[in-house]
Amino acid sequence: EVLVLPTSADVARRAAEVVLEGLAAARGAGPVLGLATGSSPLGLYAELAGAVRAGRLDLSAATGFALDEYVGLPAGHPQTYREVLLREVCAPLGLAPERLHVPDGSGRTEQELVAAAAEYERLITEAGGVDVQILGIGANGHLGFNEPGSSLSSRTRVKRLSDRTRHDNARFFDGPDDVPTHCVTQGLGTVLDARRLVLVASGPTKAAAIAAALEGPLSASCPASVLQWHPDATAVLDEAAATQL
Ligand code: GLP
Repeated sequence: EVLVLPTSADVARRAAEVVLEGLAAARGAGPVLGLATGSSPLGLYAELAGAVRAGRLDLSAATGFALDEYVGLPAGHPQTYREVLLREVCAPLGLAPERLHVPDGSGRTEQELVAAAAEYERLITEAGGVDVQILGIGANGHLGFNEPGSSLSSRTRVKRLSDRTRHDNARFFDGPDDVPTHCVTQGLGTVLDARRLVLVASGPTKAAAIAAALEGPLSASCPASVLQWHPDATAVLDEAAATQL
């Protein structure tokens, strides 16, 4: 389903409703929420925090799984996705920090990182899978850190970041050279296993990627095109992100 709304504030409000509906349908001890980083979902997280304050959402028994993490940043670095999600999600939404899972990007050898990726897949399975996965989209169509060319059935693994993504994310660091070169990311196959996908995108820089993802061929050249394959995927867009549809 593709929903186009006038502004990014409308996107945040409507996407929050889609997330709440998905979490209400969750079975098991507590809902399992898949979490994206980046600027796109921040308004959505703020809306969900409002729902918590209003008593419409309780995440005290919930589990969270991040999509991805940088490799090689020191523990506690403010731009690790663990720290970002502790700030943007755990504190305002009342998700217990010990139930926030983020891929471990601290390994120093390939072997350690490969083991961390396998452990992450095991944890998601053990939790019963993700009920609602929140997603943003990269300007090059990446999903999580699955860059163009990623296998459509990939699982959590180590990936090299593209120059475009490192350039796009340089705003969070002192400069482009400080952006890590590698990451551990859920695979596209891992993302597709979530029971509901909710993608949010705003602004003209996402318009081409959105058109390729939603109306282009299902192709590894636009990783976000896997949304077309999912039985319960909703893209919530502002008008600027929808101009090429
Ligand atoms: C980041 C993240 C993605 C995110 C994307 C878009 O690098 N790994 O999960 O969706 O790039 O970021 P933004 O929302 O800031 O445009």
